[in-house]
Amino acid sequence: MSKILFATRNSNKLREAQEILVDLELLSPTVISALKNIDPAETGATFEENAKLKARAYGRASGLPVIAEDAGLEVASLNNQPGVHSARFIAGADRDRYLKVLDLLKEQTDRQARFVAVICWYDPANNETKLFRGTVTGQIAQEPRGTSGFGYDPIFIPKGYDQTFGELEANVKHQLSHRKKALSAFYDWWQARSVNLLT
Ligand code: IMP
Repeated sequence: MSKILFATRNSNKLREAQEILVDLELLSPTVISALKNIDPAETGATFEENAKLKARAYGRASGLPVIAEDAGLEVASLNNQPGVHSARFIAGADRDRYLKVLDLLKEQTDRQARFVAVICWYDPANNETKLFRGTVTGQIAQEPRGTSGFGYDPIFIPKGYDQTFGELEANVKHQLSHRKKALSAFYDWWQARSVNLLT
């Protein structure tokens, strides 16, 4: 089975990705000592740039093919903020950040939003880089609801549902999510490429 590194220290993300990428063995950076001090700053202006920064830093330090992810929430009437700054939009905890979004949307009727995830594949053997994007569209709720998930989940209602990601079962979210779509796009490409390499 091919081994690739997943440049995340979040064990939940690793497990979720492993459930989708069934023919690949995903390695965690935590088991590779050369990666102990690798923590590239996410200084890019786009999800693509940040995913690339992470993938290349981890790939070059380990010599392994790698996937890295960058994700966030874009709110249409806030000029797509918090966007790439989702994790650090304001100081504090996740709850402070989603309450800030609700506050900024007070009086706002346009509550359209989307989660975006970008997966970057990087192979240090030939310097190959590929990008895959997944999105899920929806609305920002009037108030936070639900306790499952993380980040902005309690305020995001995916299109076609009445509940927020914080209220929906984890497996329902994982089927619809931006992350699932980006990982699936990568997996389709990777499987087709593996077939081409064999023929
Ligand atoms: P990351 O790049 O996946 O670590 O995501 C960066 C930030 O975007 C997180 O800290 C969250 O605030 C937000 N985010 C990304 N994906 C999700 C999600 O699936 N649900 C809720 N918030 C998310």
